[in-house]
Formats: sequence, C-alpha cells, structure tokens
Amino acid sequence: MTVHPAERTGTGHSAILERQRSRESSARTYARSFPIVPARAEGMWVEGVDGRRYLDCLSGAGTLALGHNHPVVLEAVRRTLDSGAPLHVLDLATPEKDRFTDALFATLPSGFADKARVHFCGPTGTDGVEAAFKLMQTATGRRGILSFGGGYHGMTAGALAASGGVTTRTPVPGIAADVTRLPYPYPYRCPFGVGGDQGARLSATYTERLLDDPNGGVVPPAAMIVEAVQGEGGAVPAPDDWMREMRRITAERDIPLIIDEVQTGVGRTGAFWAVEHSGIVPDAMVMSKAIGGSLPLAVLVYHEDYDGWLPGAHTGTFRGNTLAMAAGTATLEYVTEQGLAERAAVVGARMTERLNALRSSLPAIGDVRGRGLMIGVELVDPDAEPDACGARPVDPRTAVQVRTACLERGLIVELGGRFDSTVRLLPPLIISDEQVEAVLDRLTDAIATVTALRTSGASS
Ligand SMILES: Cc1ncc(COP(=O)(O)O)c(C=O)c1O
Repeated sequence: MTVHPAERTGTGHSAILERQRSRESSARTYARSFPIVPARAEGMWVEGVDGRRYLDCLSGAGTLALGHNHPVVLEAVRRTLDSGAPLHVLDLATPEKDRFTDALFATLPSGFADKARVHFCGPTGTDGVEAAFKLMQTATGRRGILSFGGGYHGMTAGALAASGGVTTRTPVPGIAADVTRLPYPYPYRCPFGVGGDQGARLSATYTERLLDDPNGGVVPPAAMIVEAVQGEGGAVPAPDDWMREMRRITAERDIPLIIDEVQTGVGRTGAFWAVEHSGIVPDAMVMSKAIGGSLPLAVLVYHEDYDGWLPGAHTGTFRGNTLAMAAGTATLEYVTEQGLAERAAVVGARMTERLNALRSSLPAIGDVRGRGLMIGVELVDPDAEPDACGARPVDPRTAVQVRTACLERGLIVELGGRFDSTVRLLPPLIISDEQVEAVLDRLTDAIATVTALRTSGASS
C-alpha cells in the first residue's frame, strides 16, 4: 500500500485524527461522528486535508446561516482587521458594537425592539441562557425555572438543569432542583399518547393547572424558557397556537417568558426569529450561533422593565469580540437584504414535502417535520408495531448507519432527538437548488442502502 507523503510527515488526515483522538477529552462529540480534518470550506462545501469534499448539512449545528466563509463575512473580517480596531475590548463601547446593536435591533420582532435592552454575554449560547435565568431571578425574586421535555439549552449548570437530556444531567448532582419540566407538544411521540392538535391542547391545560396547584410541587417560577422549534430535541416545531397559549399562561401569572433562539434565529425557520411565527412578544430572547457570522458571540435581549441588575451582575472577559460583531453585522444585514428567511421557508417546505413523499417507499422514515431549514427525519423500525399515535419504535442503530452512509456519499448530517434517531438537516440558508437535489439524492440513497442491507441481513 502506498503511504501518502503527508502521512509520513505526520501532517496527513490519519495522523492528525489519531493525535487529536489520543490527546483530546473523551467528551469530544462531533469529531467522533465525522472523521474529517477540514482544510478548506466555502458555502456548503467542506474539503478535508485528504482532498475529500462534503456537502455540509450540519452548518456548525445551525451556526452558519451563510455557509462557510461567505464573501460578505470575509470582507467584514478583513475590513476590521485592516482598520486597526482592537480585537479585544472587554465590554467597552466600540463602533463595531454600535453597528452590531443597530443591525440586531432592526431585526427584532415588532413590539419588542422599542423597549429592548441587550446584554453581551460570554460568547456561547449556554452563557446567554445563564444570563437570562439570573436576570429573571433577580427581577422576580423567585428561583424556579419552567422548561420542557426534549429541550436543550446548553452545558453550564443552569442551562443543563433546564435541558431534557438525562445522561448529561445525571452526573451533576443537585442542579435540577428548581426546574419544573413540562410536556412539549410532539405529535409523533405525544407525551399524552393522543397526538395532533389535541396533544398540544393538553400540554397547555396541564401547564396551566399545574401552575395553579399549590400542591403541584412547582418552585415559584422566575421564568419559562422555550424553543419555538426544538433543535437538539429532533427538529420538533411547536404549534403557533400553543406558543400563544404559553404567552397567555405566563403573562397572566407574571412569569417572564424567555425564548431560546440560539439555534432557530437568523432566518433558519423561515422567519428572522422563530418566535415571529406565532406573533407573540416575549420578555427575553437568547441569541447566539448565527448572530456572530461564524465567530463566537451571544447576547440576551430583554424588556427594559427587567433591567434590575447591578453593574457586573453577569460579567465576563470575552464580551467584546470585535471580529464577531463585524461578521455578525454583515450576516444579519445580508440575511435581511437578500430575504433569506423567506427563502428558507420555501426551500424547507420543498425539502420536507420531498422527504415526506419517500415514506411509502422507505418505511424506515417514521416522521418528517421541522420548520424552514431546520428539518428532522425520524428513523424507526418499520417491522415493529406502531403505538396508539401511529409511531413505531425509534431505530438508533439504523440512524448511526445512515449518518455513516451519508458521509461515504459526501454528505454531513448529524443525529438528534430522542435516542439520537432523527437525522437533522440544517443546511445554510444560501443552499442552491442543485445542492438541495444533491442532499436529497444522497440521503435517500443512504437510507435505501442501509435499510435494504438490514432487510437482507435479517432474512439471511
Ligand atoms: C436551543 C439551544 N440553546 C442553547 C444552546 C447552547 O449553545 P452553546 O453550545 O453555544 O453553548 C444550544 C446549542 O446547540 C441550543 O441549540
């Protein structure tokens, strides 16, 4: 076998993978699923040091609204570097922060922007969530947090406590004491076993009655946090009526409503912010991922009435990332100018329709759902009996094989949802029509090949 010269000098694909595997923590995540060493990337394309090219349908877990290295982002970064602006300024006032704040406020839902305050957080979604909890706990004098099963809000203590995943929460004792978890509407695997609109109505009724029950065990809530489309939970969209019910229920009880837009923001779901689909006005929004135009940035935006913090109440060293603000401004403006949220709605609907049509020929596809370019394809065991809502058991083994088969076909997709059995599609908003076809072709072929092999394996 010929060894590539780069492998001999230790700079090749396998050598780098092996070194990082042996030196990085065992908590590394995506690097386990994708043995790729990216060297170059542009738009939806990623090229490894081994020359292999992939269509990236993960987009940094929804971060890359404009794909990799978009010209407007690169231009903004280069312009900022050449300007001599300081790259690090703690939270001092800068022209870049000023422009970013203008651009961000211009995108906010009507009724929210006029009285909004922004807090620049440590540059991760999870820090934005911590800030939101602290802000509302300070403002209300209450401790409790209301969150939803299947939700994901991050990995720091408060955000983790509010998330649904039991495996990651269990080793951290005591953190979830103040959190009350409520049922999220998920028609395919309805927490009430009824599905459809009725499941969502029951979720609202249950929430309302539990909050009003003095013996219900709810720690008096400082806030409710909700994703309008659960991302890591498997691309599960909440019905707009249900979101309006959550707004009514919280407003009537003076409970601030925090919308976690970390993954859904910046056009991803077919509106600039996912909360806009329901037309409600939240009390706070947590934003990260796409707002930094590929670079780390997170903010909490909230109604000025809650601004009761003391100076330094949620401080941090990296809250003034000049480059991220410049890249973020360029991204927010470009998404608005080019109508990319509207494009996400149209393209996402087309992709979802095409995937739904495959269900008859590929019965391993149990459910196709999502909103805009946040799409989930839940894989099930087609030979098992369906439950009362028509859902068959999840099939995590097939899901892992499909992810690998996609990679072999040059397509990066990640899994999520219950038991990691949902293939999640998060392409950049600039995905072309040809790329849509290529993604669907590769995914279809991967599912067909994996399920055919399993069927023939099972019968032999
Ligand atoms: C909805 C939501 N909230 C919060 C987070 C945490 O963001 P980060 O990973 O930047 O801490 C994520 C990350 O995927 C998310 O999807």
